[in-house]
Amino acid sequence: MAKTDFLTLNSLSQSALFKVLERAHDLKKSYQAKKFSQTLAQHVLAMIFEKSSTRTRVSFEAGMTQLGGSAIFLSPTDTQLGRGEPLEDTARVLSEMVSAVMIRTDDHHKLVRFAEAATIPVINGLSDSCHPCQLLADVQTMQEIFGEVQGLQVAWIGDGNNVCHSYLEAAGLFDFTLNVACPKGYQPSAEWVEKANGRVRFYDSPEEAVRDAQVVTTDVWASMGQEDETDARLEAFKGYQITPALLDRARTDACFLHCLPAHQGEEISEHLFDDPRTKSVWAQAGNRLHAQKALLEHLIQG
Ligand code: CP
Ligand code: NVA
Repeated sequence: MAKTDFLTLNSLSQSALFKVLERAHDLKKSYQAKKFSQTLAQHVLAMIFEKSSTRTRVSFEAGMTQLGGSAIFLSPTDTQLGRGEPLEDTARVLSEMVSAVMIRTDDHHKLVRFAEAATIPVINGLSDSCHPCQLLADVQTMQEIFGEVQGLQVAWIGDGNNVCHSYLEAAGLFDFTLNVACPKGYQPSAEWVEKANGRVRFYDSPEEAVRDAQVVTTDVWASMGQEDETDARLEAFKGYQITPALLDRARTDACFLHCLPAHQGEEISEHLFDDPRTKSVWAQAGNRLHAQKALLEHLIQG
């Protein structure tokens, strides 16, 4: 049977995505009841991190353990990858030893090359292009709060970055409206805007974009690898901070999501997390665990 990778959301069909999410909700209930299944007993996930991580690493590692398997953390500096062993050779070798590989990389093309050479599923744990695992958790969180994701009004405020790209793709696949406000020069790329399949609208200001929003979301202004641009970005993103006053302009039942880590005083105001509308952020982070467990089962068990 051909293996399935998860490099972007649309690596899976819409029906497969909904099935994964259904399973994620069940796995969360089992987890809360302290009931663990052994559906991936003896299976091993290799995790290659070229960049830092808290949530992605812990959720994949804990997830594999809770399903009866295990995970191995690999960093380029401690493996032969850092000494020039080709990606393709590494992909072939790992395919002989483990059931799946998760990669966090600064170059999406490396993921594609790795996936082409590997005979096991390859999962995107964040690339410069997109962050599909994050969107599984975010959609799970929206389903929990609103019952269903179809027809929701979601506002993306800030940088048109990798997470924004996955939001655009998700809007097309899960049929919600994405209202985007990004400063000039920081819009998402046209290739990803197309993936929204007409479910996106652009606004000139955060105030306009959040009007009628049921979900307001943002991300850091300088992503990993863009540290040199921090000063220019702080200047460019002035006026794009999420504050309680901005949330007041959204619907009264609106919630706030953030993939985290968050920078208080930059994309969110100081103490924003004291606002009850932001408590969804912690459920969202926790849902990384459940959504990815469901994804791992889907990819490894077939
Ligand atoms: N949201 C997210 O991917 O967090 P980490 O960088 O901590 O993995
Ligand atoms: N856009 C951020 C997301 C971190 C989870 C980054 O790429 O650093």
